[in-house]
Amino acid sequence: MKEEVLALLRQTDDYLSGQDMSARLGVSRAAVWKAVEALRKEGYVIDSAPNRGYRLAAATGRLSQREVLGLLGNHPWAPMVQVLDSVDSTNNLAKTLAAQGAPAGTVVIADCQTGGRGRLGRSFLSPAGDGIYLSVILRPRATPPELMHLTCAVAEVMCDAVENATGLRPGIKWTNDLVWGGRKLAGILTELSLEAELGHVQYAVVGIGVNCQQELSSFPPELQDMAGSLKMATGKTVDRNRLAAEMVRGLYRLDGSLVTGRLAWMKAYRKDCVTLGRAVAVRKADEARWGQALDVDDWGALLVDFGQGPEAVRSGEVSVRGLYGYV
Ligand code: BTN
Repeated sequence: MKEEVLALLRQTDDYLSGQDMSARLGVSRAAVWKAVEALRKEGYVIDSAPNRGYRLAAATGRLSQREVLGLLGNHPWAPMVQVLDSVDSTNNLAKTLAAQGAPAGTVVIADCQTGGRGRLGRSFLSPAGDGIYLSVILRPRATPPELMHLTCAVAEVMCDAVENATGLRPGIKWTNDLVWGGRKLAGILTELSLEAELGHVQYAVVGIGVNCQQELSSFPPELQDMAGSLKMATGKTVDRNRLAAEMVRGLYRLDGSLVTGRLAWMKAYRKDCVTLGRAVAVRKADEARWGQALDVDDWGALLVDFGQGPEAVRSGEVSVRGLYGYV
């Protein structure tokens, strides 16, 4: 009954009367009251007012498997979603599961990572209570060149998920950072395992880390110029369970259209990519070059004019003027 009452309360920001809820659920008002009390014990803040009923003031701050599954309902991937308190890296765990044969759609979510990894061998700060650290196993029937747009498409899916859960649509810093107000909100790490003989992809593990509840002072000093959180951007505490469920829904949509829907994904990506039209510095190995970001091609390469017309940039570190304190 708790789940049903919670689902009703989630449908509105307004009060719902006990009578209305009992009629809609086909149970007594006492049963509704009992469920509300049980939810309060779990940490949900539920206001009650005479003659008006109950209102969900704040979802519990905890990431919880039960909540995420409740929000996913009978989604096809729901049985393959697990939420953990702590893990070294959700990407590491997902890779281990994939190597053991776990199917596409296996999702690992953690409240905290003790060894979160970012791109280019960097670490990804993953403190408990603040973020969402999520990895999914995909098994596209494709070769790596056919999946060059994968990270871009995931970034696009994440913009949709954040918008659905919070009302805020972030921008994308090429290739795979979600940004708002010049600060990084989220990053994506894609790892592929290849089948040696045919060169096909055995599996892809896509990991996404989202900063949700941090205040500026929560970040270490060296990140305070560039890091941000959804709470800093919206002024509101984020319902992480809701966002996690939206992320799973988005990744499922992507899984069904990754290869066939490439052009559509890239078209949408271009609209959200805030790198375009800006001055950029591209660093590879020891070399740095400065140019103007013109466009992103249909495979996700950044087209940069370094002074001699468009040149495709596929990898390396790209700093964008106006973002992350880069002036
Ligand atoms: C980056 O910005 O460089 C990429 C960051 C990716 C972080 C996520 S958090 C979930 C998954 N597990 C990891 O260890 N890394 C990714």
